Amino acid sequence: MDIFIDTANLDEIRQANDMGVLDGVTTNPSLVAKEKVDFHKRLGEICEIVSGPVSAEVVSVDHDGMIREANALTKIADNIVIKLPCIVEGLKACKTLSDRGVRVNMTLCFQSLQAMLVAKAGAFLVSPFLGRIDDIAGDGVQLISEIRTIYDNYGYDTRILAASIRHSKHLVDVAKAGADVATVPFSVIKQMMSHPLTDVGLEKFLADWKKGQG
Ligand code: G3P
Repeated sequence: MDIFIDTANLDEIRQANDMGVLDGVTTNPSLVAKEKVDFHKRLGEICEIVSGPVSAEVVSVDHDGMIREANALTKIADNIVIKLPCIVEGLKACKTLSDRGVRVNMTLCFQSLQAMLVAKAGAFLVSPFLGRIDDIAGDGVQLISEIRTIYDNYGYDTRILAASIRHSKHLVDVAKAGADVATVPFSVIKQMMSHPLTDVGLEKFLADWKKGQG
């Protein structure tokens, strides 16, 4: 499973990238607003650090506006992926951009039928938001499984990007459910390589080694 970081913070992106296992970056308008920086400039900085797909979201809600924004965003770097919302205008824009060879990430996906339509429109990625589904007492992992089944039944190439990840168990669950990618907040990326028994075990190995040398 590919691991993307879900942030617009350069320090977090650098630290995750230095771990050597980062495959891409996703941003959204809320994450960019938190940074209080120029959007296009920040995207350029991110693309200098990470060579994998970097998702940049439009804020227009009509087809023509989305395409205008996408035209400007794709000029920033070759690895920019255009993020569009799962609404009818987004679906139309997805088809227009995908037909031109622009990679699109369809975001705010909350049901498998949205995922089916965006796959038909040629989306490169679809982003089901499992944490937000769990927040309203739904089953986010079940949505990933359903989309996996539908995509496999019909041979759709769109990659399933599990988004709105809240904790490391979500990652285990979406990996088992067959997500192609998970986009993960930095706090959860850090949890992935950490276990208290690893720390205790390492401490004991080193203490025993010292004794043996002594
Ligand atoms: O970037 C999309 C998604 O991962 C947002 O997650 O935590 O705001 O529900 P969250």
